[in-house]
Amino acid sequence: MLRERFGPVDTADRAHAPVVVAIDGPSGSGKSTVSRAVAARLGLSFLDTGAMYRAMTWWMLANDVDVDDPEAVAVACGKPVIVSGTDAVGPTITVDGKDVSGPIRGPEVTAQVSAVAAVPAVRARLVELQRGCAGVAERGIVAEGRDMGTVVFPDATVKVFLTASEEARAERRATELRAKGVDEATITAMAADLTRRDAADSSRKTAPLSQAVDAVLVDTSRLTLEQVIDRITALVEEQAGLSSV
Ligand code: DC
Repeated sequence: MLRERFGPVDTADRAHAPVVVAIDGPSGSGKSTVSRAVAARLGLSFLDTGAMYRAMTWWMLANDVDVDDPEAVAVACGKPVIVSGTDAVGPTITVDGKDVSGPIRGPEVTAQVSAVAAVPAVRARLVELQRGCAGVAERGIVAEGRDMGTVVFPDATVKVFLTASEEARAERRATELRAKGVDEATITAMAADLTRRDAADSSRKTAPLSQAVDAVLVDTSRLTLEQVIDRITALVEEQAGLSSV
């Protein structure tokens, strides 16, 4: 399908055009870890767009903006200066110069981010920043999120939609949380929150989570992380004419 859309792969041509690899999928599909590893293997930049929505939400909460009021969020969303460092080996995210990589993973931000991400003005602002990151990526970029292949990079060189069964996603999340010493009641509550967030992200009006028609579907339920990374790296090598560094 991709071949039809882009014509035959011309490795020489592609060596000059920066490659964009768009990876979308629900929470817990392994997107972030996989995208970052593929970017590192191929010497590409890496962009975690969920972190940008989280950073915007963190700023709204820190500045007492009512995140349940879409108009208030829309009015305020031009104010924070959000900068994503796209080195796959050590990605960073700052808001107004402050490193927020820790706080954006906290429960307050996680509980509110879907509401903020549903506001069209927020999406318009962050999409512009995301395209800017791709524009300055020397060799190319792996961008992961919910609307990379459908909205942000409709002409991406390679599009992947990562999925996993709800059970597999919940189990992975629980394993991660147990390893961090989180108690079972909190793990159950977080699983419910994950389901709620996925439903909200998939049903919102603007840029809902959905598979682009020309994306390759990869179900990770029965694959190890290494297997998923190998499969996607091979796909990018083949479709973008790139090789590992
Ligand atoms: O991938 P994540 O869980 O860190 O994403 C945080 C939230 O941001 C998630 O609820 C969906 C939203 N998001 C989005 O709407 N569009 C994106 N491109 C990336 C994330």
